[in-house]
Amino acid sequence: MTTTPDDHSAAEWDARYAEADRLWTAEVNPALAVEVSDLTPGRALDVGSGEGADARWLADAGWQVTAVDIAQVAVDRARALDPRPAITWVRADLRIDTVPGADFDLVALHYFPIATADTNVARTLIGAVGVGGTLLVVAHDPDGVRAHGRNPDDYLQPDDVAALLGEDWSIVTAETRERGRPGGSPNAVSHHHLDVVLRARRIR
Ligand SMILES: C[S@@+](CC[C@H](N)C(=O)[O-])C[C@H]1O[C@@H](n2cnc3c(N)ncnc32)[C@H](O)[C@@H]1O
Repeated sequence: MTTTPDDHSAAEWDARYAEADRLWTAEVNPALAVEVSDLTPGRALDVGSGEGADARWLADAGWQVTAVDIAQVAVDRARALDPRPAITWVRADLRIDTVPGADFDLVALHYFPIATADTNVARTLIGAVGVGGTLLVVAHDPDGVRAHGRNPDDYLQPDDVAALLGEDWSIVTAETRERGRPGGSPNAVSHHHLDVVLRARRIR
């Protein structure tokens, strides 16, 4: 059985999305814009795509995007905002469902919660990157997580994901940096000012 630090069920996420017309900013996450700017557009997997701001930005930049989220409410909202064929919106629980696709040129996780015990989920997402492709994992810094009442030790951090990468990988970026503007819901006080960024390239 999948272990989660609290109830990250589809129903919980759906309820959260249903409470607001918009839960997250409609702007691309800054780390995505920075880290992807020097990549040639190809096929991208946006993991935990939420309301779709990153998927839309990637599609604008020429990527074919598969955007996956556990919350049907979020998937429907994102699809209604942008129904163009360059983005395939998929409802799936990546703890139990199969990743929709393989050999991606980019697999991007922005603030995607993976319980510490679910290293298999991280391994599966790492395995979805094709040779020459990029894995981008962006998380809130641990102090910001604590300030929001959660324990960062309950979740895999970018360092933990990096530790799962073997000799087939080259780390391009591993750092904590200013996010540029606070992350999280635009309707709530956010303590998320720092991003922890892991970017790695699969070299073989
Ligand atoms: C903190 S939000 C981040 C949303 C978006 N990436 C962003 O940066 O605005 C995490 C997202 O992951 C989704 N999610 C959580 N657990 C999931 C799972 N097991 N499978 C797929 N999506 C999941 C949630 O529904 C939510 O949309």
